[in-house]
Amino acid sequence: MQTWQQLDQAYIMSTVSRYPIAIGKAEGNYLYDTEGKRYLDLFTGLAVNTLGHSHPRILEALEEQGRRFLHISNLFLNPPAIRLAERLVKHTFGQGKVYFSNSGAEATEAAVKLVHKWIQREQHGRQGIVVLKNSFHGRTLGALRLTRQPGVYQDFPQPDFPVFEVEPNQIDSLMEVCRTHRPAAILVEPILGAGGVVSLERAYLETIEQLCKEEQMLFLVDEIQTGIGRTGKLFAYQHFALSPDVILFAKGIGGGLPLGGLIASAHVADLFQPGDHGTTFAPSPLSAALGNAVLDVLLEDGLLEQGRQVADALWEELHRLQQAHPRVFKGVDGRGMMLGIRTHLSAEQVKRLQSELLEAGILVNVTAKTVVRLLPPLTLTRAEVTFFIETLERLITQMEPAWEVN
Ligand SMILES: Cc1ncc(COP(=O)(O)O)c(C=O)c1O
Repeated sequence: MQTWQQLDQAYIMSTVSRYPIAIGKAEGNYLYDTEGKRYLDLFTGLAVNTLGHSHPRILEALEEQGRRFLHISNLFLNPPAIRLAERLVKHTFGQGKVYFSNSGAEATEAAVKLVHKWIQREQHGRQGIVVLKNSFHGRTLGALRLTRQPGVYQDFPQPDFPVFEVEPNQIDSLMEVCRTHRPAAILVEPILGAGGVVSLERAYLETIEQLCKEEQMLFLVDEIQTGIGRTGKLFAYQHFALSPDVILFAKGIGGGLPLGGLIASAHVADLFQPGDHGTTFAPSPLSAALGNAVLDVLLEDGLLEQGRQVADALWEELHRLQQAHPRVFKGVDGRGMMLGIRTHLSAEQVKRLQSELLEAGILVNVTAKTVVRLLPPLTLTRAEVTFFIETLERLITQMEPAWEVN
């Protein structure tokens, strides 16, 4: 009999290298393989299962909405989506409107079209979007134009709208590009996720906001990974006194189902008119019902606050570990439950550490080749923090003497 891995390799196109484990069940903060082995999930389906797996409030919403209707098309009024849009607007701009999509890349596509509608309306002669080197905004062709990771975009055609790439956190080059090219918009991830968990500095974000105001550019934040409570606020830009024009969201909002979109502040909320954009499935009433359950748990049941406290304990422990093993760990970047552990290790060594952790029953992600990325559920417990830190330290201690540390 063939294994799941063999069947996967035979029948599913290989666009990612997968862990060699077939999942049989997921519950709370754990995944279980088909043999029943349990894994602490420290990356939650790449920042999706913010409430852990099979959260009772999610299951309740799934059943309740499942019994009402699953799909109605966007030709009807859709109460769960209307309710979710209202809450997203009220918890961000106060006034504005939401466009819903099925995924993050589609949210980016919508943002590109919105910027173009805005250029047409303003007639101010500005063109193009500024993005950051190593940013990740999705893999469909329009979104890929804004994703500045050569390994991701190099083999594919590039749509010809202007895109200007700048180094993150370098104010001078940002100002220079804005002066020289007169772009129409700036799009940033407040913390670059796939680009290696790199936080944008407060001064840099404030400069973007100021430039956008002065030069009549749109300020867009891609909160697809950083949003929905991941960094300790509903959206990461809310840690600063910023007021972007557009917020992109996806991942965590659907509580495990596909859902994404953008929130447009009032002055750009009516740029899309009937016929300008749309898709058959979004907003899925089921995903939207789950989205409302996610917001209930985060904002009303106090999970946002609980997650913040456990994240603080995790950060503290990681800093201690870094001080105890400076030859292995360089530092930690990110915020809240989005952490990038920087190492002095080679890509091969990090891969080995990842497989040792897997063997020990802990799932971590690796990004930018040598950064161990953690995207834990906000339901993580202090006991699980201790389990992870003790296991990591044990493995490091065992492996350290054998490593040719740079
Ligand atoms: C910041 C950011 N933007 C966009 C995307 C694309 O989202 P999706 O994979 O849902 O298309 C991702 C996915 O990782 C992301 O992290």
